[in-house]
Parts: sequence; structure tokens; C-alpha cells
Amino acid sequence: MKRNIVLTGLMGSGKTSVGKLVAKKLRLKFVDIDSEIEKDAGLKIREIFEKFGEEYFRKLESSKCKEVSKLQEYVISTGGGVVLNPDNIKNLRRNGLIINLRANPKILWQRVKDKKDRPLLNVNNPVEILSHLLERRKEFYDDADIIIDNTDLSLEETADRVIKEIEKLSKL
Ligand code: S3P
Repeated sequence: MKRNIVLTGLMGSGKTSVGKLVAKKLRLKFVDIDSEIEKDAGLKIREIFEKFGEEYFRKLESSKCKEVSKLQEYVISTGGGVVLNPDNIKNLRRNGLIINLRANPKILWQRVKDKKDRPLLNVNNPVEILSHLLERRKEFYDDADIIIDNTDLSLEETADRVIKEIEKLSKL
């Protein structure tokens, strides 16, 4: 398979952890868009938001999407807001299968609450914010080749499901 596997989904949906596992199991390379942005900027995502604002971050994100879309045989983990710009998905889809991971907002929060690196969740009501983001982004997350709800799945189970669903699609 020459195509990339692109993981989308809200914060806490497991894009990075599952992506790494899938890459390992399928012997593909792995790249995380947020980590690449951080490496280039020499700043954490949280610091980019603080210093330059979300709009600036979105520009960096779009140009990184364009760049990684040219890769082949990679598992690509995106940031949760990548789907908001149609050009991002257009680029990623050109050479990639889009897989959306999702889970109940309460579970998403349980998974990310101990990490302090999500500027959008640095609020008093993170579960509400996650629900709101989910509502706003649902139509974009729904526009995927494969959708997997991993509310009740472990990382390992989610990775295996991703691989199973890809195999099913390739038999069609
Ligand atoms: C964001 C998700 C984050 C990161 C940034 C904005 C979002 O990535 O890109 O904080 O808009 O949902 P993760 O989904 O990897 O946490």
C-alpha cells in the first residue's frame, strides 16, 4: 500500500498513540503534525497559541499538512482542528486514507486531563468545550473513509480495528 493512513479526531481520541501502534504493526513510518510544527517553531503548541494566537497556529498547521501530504507509506497523526480547513483534508486525502477516531467527550477528557499541553482545554468546563467542539466539527469528522468509535476500546484494540477496517476496504 503506497497510500498514507491519516488519523483525524478530537483531542484524546488517540490519534498519536494509536497512530504509532498502527505504524509499528504495519511497518510504516509515523509522523505527527503537531510535533513537526513544534520542532520547526522551537516552541510547544501551547506557547505558539500564547505568543501568536490560534490563527497563526492554523497557518502553520495548513502548511505542514501540505508538506506531509507528499509523503508515502506513512501513518500521519493530525491535530484535532485540521479538519476545519477543507484544503487540509483535500491535501491529506490526495494520497491518504482518512480514518476518524472518536469517543465520548467525558472519556476524551479522562484521557487528556493530566497533560497540560492543550490550550483549548485550559478552561473551567473542558468536557463542555469538548462536546461543543465535537458538535461544531462533527460534519467534518464524519467526512472520513473509516470511522471508529473507541470509547470502549484500548489503544491496542483500536489499532487492531484500524488495521482490520483498512483490510476490509482494500478487499472491496
Ligand atoms: C487542537 C488539537 C491539538 C492541537 C491544538 C488544537 C484542536 O492537537 O493541534 O491544541 O483544535 O482540536 P491534538 O488533537 O493532537 O491534541
